[in-house]
Amino acid sequence: MTISIKTTKEIDKMRLAGKLAAEVLEMIEPYVTIGITTDELDQICHDYIVHTQQAIPAPLNYHGFPKSICTSVNHVICHGIPGQKKLKNGDIINIDITVIKDGYHGDTSKMFALGKPSIRAQRLIEISRECLLKGIECVKPGAALGEIGHAIERHASAHHFSVVHEYCGHGIGRAFHEEPQVLHYADKVSSPILEAGMTFTIEPMINVGKRHCKLNQKDGWTVTTKDRSLSSQWEHTLLVTEEGVEVLTRRGEEDDL
Ligand code: MF3
Ligand code: CO
Ligand code: CO
Repeated sequence: MTISIKTTKEIDKMRLAGKLAAEVLEMIEPYVTIGITTDELDQICHDYIVHTQQAIPAPLNYHGFPKSICTSVNHVICHGIPGQKKLKNGDIINIDITVIKDGYHGDTSKMFALGKPSIRAQRLIEISRECLLKGIECVKPGAALGEIGHAIERHASAHHFSVVHEYCGHGIGRAFHEEPQVLHYADKVSSPILEAGMTFTIEPMINVGKRHCKLNQKDGWTVTTKDRSLSSQWEHTLLVTEEGVEVLTRRGEEDDL
């Protein structure tokens, strides 16, 4: 496995791409309201990325993906395709943004709740964000990549939630998905040691019910929980620094990062 170490120049570009991706999530927040369709959210993000940021929405045409963002509602785990269904009171939605700026990718997602979600849904959203933070806390030079998954799984199972295995975090840079794979669960296989200059995402998908998932055979993209229980995901793009970690996609609201 070869994990690329980014140069200072590349790191500056990753910083900008990460900042832009974070800004799309900040921009879209006031639009995430009851009655809007995920198609409309896609259109607003697309126009903002292309015209305001003069960047490229990475998902559009990525292996044939038809839209500019992913919108994953309720029991959808990830890769939900924006469509004409309206968001309704109590829904939870993950919006996943990836932009390409000057050849480099920034990838980040967060959860939004519409109106009044169930206590269970609120708890899921909160614990899954804590899972991401626990993962980020493991990141520093000399640490093993595998510690991330251990920390995430430990936290999710302490709260009786499950961790999706089939989809992982990933190295990121000039390519959307690079080595390494970043597992969100504990695994026995030996994992690489982190070094300053590595960039990768952590993006745990946490379910209320069982961990198993199902890929929609008709659209080839939408991944749902097999038992149709709720699922929640948060994602950041990270840089390993000499001191520890820099969250390249940090939003202004995240004063805990
Ligand atoms: N943004 C997703 C990730 O975190 C990947 C989406 S691929 C797409 O890796 F084609 F569905 F957009
Ligand atoms: Co990602
Ligand atoms: Co993403």
